[in-house]
Amino acid sequence: MAPGVPGIPVKLDSPRELNHKPSKEGLVKFSKPRRYNDIEKFDQFERFDKIDNSPEKSEKVEFLREFSNKYGYNGKIDTIIDHEYPHLKNTTYLDHTGATIYPKSAVDSFADDLRNHCFGNPHSKNSSSQLSTERVNRVRARVLNYFNADPNDYQVIFTQNATAAIKMVGEVFPWTYGKSSFRYMRENHNSIVGLRRFAEENNSPDVKVVTEKDLESMFNAYSEHRNVNLPPETNNSTVYGLFAYPAQCNFSGRKFPLSWVKKIKSFDTDYSKILILLDAAAYVSCSPLSLADKDDSPDFVALSFYKMFGFPTGLGALIVKNELSSILKKRYFGGGTLRAVAFDRSWQMFRRDLSERFEDGTINFLNIIALEHSFNAMEKIYGNLFYVREHLTSLSTFLYRKLSSLRHLNGSPLCVLYSNNDYSDSSLQGPIFNFNVKRADGSWIGYREVEAAANERGINLRVGAFCNPGGLAKWLKFTPDQVMAGFLEGKVCDDDIDIFKGRIVGSVRVSLGAMTTIDDVLKLLAFLREYIDNTTSAPPLQHKSSRVMSKHLSQKVEMSITHPNMMVEKMTYTRDLHPKQLE
Ligand SMILES: Cc1ncc(COP(=O)(O)O)c(C=O)c1O
Repeated sequence: MAPGVPGIPVKLDSPRELNHKPSKEGLVKFSKPRRYNDIEKFDQFERFDKIDNSPEKSEKVEFLREFSNKYGYNGKIDTIIDHEYPHLKNTTYLDHTGATIYPKSAVDSFADDLRNHCFGNPHSKNSSSQLSTERVNRVRARVLNYFNADPNDYQVIFTQNATAAIKMVGEVFPWTYGKSSFRYMRENHNSIVGLRRFAEENNSPDVKVVTEKDLESMFNAYSEHRNVNLPPETNNSTVYGLFAYPAQCNFSGRKFPLSWVKKIKSFDTDYSKILILLDAAAYVSCSPLSLADKDDSPDFVALSFYKMFGFPTGLGALIVKNELSSILKKRYFGGGTLRAVAFDRSWQMFRRDLSERFEDGTINFLNIIALEHSFNAMEKIYGNLFYVREHLTSLSTFLYRKLSSLRHLNGSPLCVLYSNNDYSDSSLQGPIFNFNVKRADGSWIGYREVEAAANERGINLRVGAFCNPGGLAKWLKFTPDQVMAGFLEGKVCDDDIDIFKGRIVGSVRVSLGAMTTIDDVLKLLAFLREYIDNTTSAPPLQHKSSRVMSKHLSQKVEMSITHPNMMVEKMTYTRDLHPKQLE
């Protein structure tokens, strides 16, 4: 158990059980607490005026009738927005998985801190340096405490972002050449997929993408053989494999079970162990993560702080188990990571402490100091993640219901939503809505068009494939062959081509955050309703499915690409043929 952390392990059933207790002095003071369940008086809330005389007004009443006990932090949401987010005034911000928005008080108190103290480069004995060191250490402890991690079990290594944390795992992992496996979930961010390069470099015989279904059947099959502890073929050293998965998919918002860690670890033997990297970047923005039970928790957790607090940017962390210290392999060194070094030969002695050994160069000490202000502000404004989760579940359940009921006059659905959940259970689904918009005839409205129209209305959402090629494969049914073929025909990530050869090649993502209001949600719905076609009752056209097309009209192609570094890469892919090519 983490010393000084009351009440862990955290069970998130009620606010009282939470570690992150709202501090009483810190809470925003409201002259007159206004509760949203006072529906008769709802006109007093200034944000209603903007959507008066519209279906949204009655929808707001409908929403409040059902969700006022969960929504809005006990009636404080409007005051929170006014005090803390004046910069959101003319914006409907719905890209919280991209980055959430910083509160004013965090920025103000950080600025005050900078104005009132002199922070120097840490790790020296002068007073400004010592002040920085002291603050940085305090923040390290705060991060561990936030995740209920015992400092005896885990350490925080500060990085530039989640991607740098993930890359660090690849660099320091104890790969055994020709033996270590690397498996990763299909719905991973590219930052995880990139780890494949380290596995390939180490001639891994087993680099595999797994789906949720694969994992479940693996758990079932392996449990029959769990006592088999085969010795290694050559020597007695343990072979480590790596398994990486996201706690929450940044494409669909699906949350993957944290209980997988325990299941995977139960197959470890003396000779073969799987270390688990949890990509928590999308998850921790509004979901609590507890590392209190070390043995059932991931070995590495990667995250970016701007996704949790909006500020500071340029700061992430790799939270690592201390017990791995002796097997993690540090190659490069720079700055204070060493105890001693010879300048002219291969001799250097690394520091023992994980964070000292792994944080090359000067740490981003001012941003780390800023992080403390963000933790304080978050606690002061929202109390704890329990309230944030309640708030978001109410908005998400409502938005899901409304989105899935939007129809054209002819009955065809306006939106195709990429999720299998109904958003009422926050343990399965985060507040991400990934969808595409269709016309009444069933044809796609390109996501770039939706993005531009949303922009005109002050709605900030994100479109594309969200650096998640596996998410694209799962939800839009794109095979790697098709992606490769598309590339060779000119389709690249993040370009403006949203419909390629008749297929939609990405989607629209709306993601909610702690400060999202029902008015933001209603504004989004009002915007989407503009696409509803009330002029035709003709049924949608029967479009030929592009999957069927690719089955019938395809050709296997082999080719090689020469990269700028002169590496030649052989590619085999299956090309969809344009009907003209068949003539
Ligand atoms: C699940 C997930 N992993 C990793 C990343 C990469 O984060 P960063 O760009 O901060 O390194 C993101 C960013 O959106 C993400 O959502």
